[in-house]
Amino acid sequence: MNDHTTIAGLDVRPLAGACGAEILGIDLSQRLSDESVAGIRRALLEHCVVFFRDQTLTVEQHKALARRFGEIFIHPNYKGTGPDPEIVEIRREPGDKRIVGEEWHSDTTMMEEPPMGAILYALDVPAYGGDTLFANQYAAYEALSPGMQRMIGGLRAYHTDRKVAGPRANNNAFRSTKVREDDAWRETVSLHPVVVTHPETGRKLLYVNHSYTVGFEGMTEEESKPLLDFLLAHGHRPEFTCRFRWQKGSIAFWDNRSSKHLAVHDSHQARRHMRRVQISGTRPV
Ligand code: SIN
Repeated sequence: MNDHTTIAGLDVRPLAGACGAEILGIDLSQRLSDESVAGIRRALLEHCVVFFRDQTLTVEQHKALARRFGEIFIHPNYKGTGPDPEIVEIRREPGDKRIVGEEWHSDTTMMEEPPMGAILYALDVPAYGGDTLFANQYAAYEALSPGMQRMIGGLRAYHTDRKVAGPRANNNAFRSTKVREDDAWRETVSLHPVVVTHPETGRKLLYVNHSYTVGFEGMTEEESKPLLDFLLAHGHRPEFTCRFRWQKGSIAFWDNRSSKHLAVHDSHQARRHMRRVQISGTRPV
């Protein structure tokens, strides 16, 4: 097995068997050539998440990079919590009891058209801890038995943001990154297929996650729970995952359609500061 491949002139080094690859030798602060954009996109589709090291990006360069892959997605639950709706600053301060993304999730799946991806840039990270895990959802789907694949093939599931935003989620008192919790906030709910066909690769994948998915169409949440719990836990079996250790200047760019991720909540006394830009996507089908 090769420890690296070349895609459109880029040096791509896989990080784990299931997903994740580091791309070397590219400066993301500069406007990328069409060939580099196509190469990064190909590596992203193949590895579900790609990583870059030692980057220096201003806010404008970060947004320009994201725009090479699509339109910038404005997160409705962070709108108004910072000066620029196109970016989300994800901060942990010593003593924070909760963090953003501490459960396995794909981002923002309560939307009818969830983002296709996100570019997360590390501004300040702890000396150790604060890693991010990713899990390949093609692999999760493909590892299910034919009987289970048949059974879930026709199901749709409800995705809601009520656990991650709004007054009842009650996150702001426990963490430095604030989300909308005002009285005018309203829950957003969408129905998505449990098995989705990726719009670019045409491959099937498992599409449920802990933060947003609450039950199946036509069933109560209680009735849905045993099967949903199984699918949620199955989706992040260790053999489907990779783990990324951050350094200042590192970037993770994930395909939000084919992967789930989790921010490890183990850096309680350290500061961690990231900047995220999300890229618009299409309706999962
Ligand atoms: C996220 O879920 O977007 C944040 C991930 C992280 O901070 O590692």
